[in-house]
Amino acid sequence: MFPSTVYSDRRKKLRNELSGGLILFLGNQEVPFNYPANTYSFRQDSNFSYFFGLDHPDLAGIIDLDNGIDYIFGNDVDIDDIIWMGVQPTIRDQAAKAGVDHTAPLTGLNEAIKNAREQGRRVHFAPPYRGETILWLAALLHIPHLELKANASEPLIKAIIRLRMKKDAMEVAEIEKMVDVAWKMHTTAMKMARPGIVEREIAGTIEGIALANAGPVSFPVILSINGQTLHNHYHGNTLAGGRMLVIDAGCENELHYSSDITRTVPVGGKFNARQKGIYEVVLHANLTAIKAVKPGTPFKEIHMLAATEIARGLTALGIMKGDPAEAALKGAHTLFFPHGLGHPLGLDVHDLEGMGENLIGYDEEVQRSSEFGLAFLRFGRKLQEGFVMTIEPGIYFIPELIDIWKAENKLAEYINFDVVETYKDFGGIRIEDDILVTADGCRVLGKPIPKTVAEIEELMSDLKI
Ligand code: GLY
Ligand code: MN
Repeated sequence: MFPSTVYSDRRKKLRNELSGGLILFLGNQEVPFNYPANTYSFRQDSNFSYFFGLDHPDLAGIIDLDNGIDYIFGNDVDIDDIIWMGVQPTIRDQAAKAGVDHTAPLTGLNEAIKNAREQGRRVHFAPPYRGETILWLAALLHIPHLELKANASEPLIKAIIRLRMKKDAMEVAEIEKMVDVAWKMHTTAMKMARPGIVEREIAGTIEGIALANAGPVSFPVILSINGQTLHNHYHGNTLAGGRMLVIDAGCENELHYSSDITRTVPVGGKFNARQKGIYEVVLHANLTAIKAVKPGTPFKEIHMLAATEIARGLTALGIMKGDPAEAALKGAHTLFFPHGLGHPLGLDVHDLEGMGENLIGYDEEVQRSSEFGLAFLRFGRKLQEGFVMTIEPGIYFIPELIDIWKAENKLAEYINFDVVETYKDFGGIRIEDDILVTADGCRVLGKPIPKTVAEIEELMSDLKI
């Protein structure tokens, strides 16, 4: 945990953003895997972590906006728990670490919420996303579970977004440590990427590196020679020469700050001419986008810049045609780059996404598009100093999408479908870095992970682990 003052300061800032009532944060519970006592690894709720820092199940926090007191509710363990789980800190000791003086057993939470409801006080809560929490919240608030989301507090959500989006130096340091662990994961994966190895051997090894050096992976490892499927979690293919391997993986530490990095490498370590051609286009888009990041620039503008550079590069390769800027404006690049340029990163790998993508990524100035491709852009509004974002352009040849566009002759003035046909067996390439928006630009976080053709070929020339 950070020092207790970090959590009390965060709660103080949250108080200043809201006017009255209670703010209720339910911590996460254990979730059964296949029977009640066999649970998934415990993962605390990110908001609870941010404001209270405690990493134990079955806790709740209340920030009373009217009397100025913060409370932690939870039950001390009994001897049965101690026999199986060992001695646990008391709720009072845990609360002290979060800078909270007032504690009570969980029955006290029922009482506190009942009193607040009877007095007609507003109970602010963020949208729940886990079944267990939904049931708990529904029972406490007497709100049908299907109506909870609609009753979540928009002022609270907006205040949480304002606070959590801007990372301070301590938070950036935690994220950066996780990028450094990702360096180990990715360089190991690159060295293992030789013909004959099965994807799961690499995926399992790098997940082990995450666990051995930090904590769990921050999302299920995406690792595939079929990188044209954007989130490919199938790891049963055998690597073969001529394929590219997409490795999209990161990890989180005990405070839950995360990393999210993607590298794409040729199986066997040497790019052929066709792979190099497409790779250089994605790399150029990645570098151009990173260079364009600065406070005040809408992320949507940087996304469109990357899209234009992808259209320009694909035009030079004869895959697209016409004016690249015009092609990007019309959305022709989305046949190859159908997703958004990136997303916020922090305590969640898609930071704050549970609060509602449009509330995080859009505002009155920059509205979300409903067009294919741009609609997948999770974040479009102006960047601010302290935001941590991913920059992850890609080019994919998705046979099923190509067939549909070709049959419709969609945007055919910008696409050489006969050339595209010859790339249907290519797969995909994505290159993703984690960046911090600084006062006048941005900084790529962590120890540099090989990214240029020369750097990757050099690292992979020593194909052993
Ligand atoms: N790394 C997975 C994603 O950003 O969606
Ligand atoms: Mn990402």
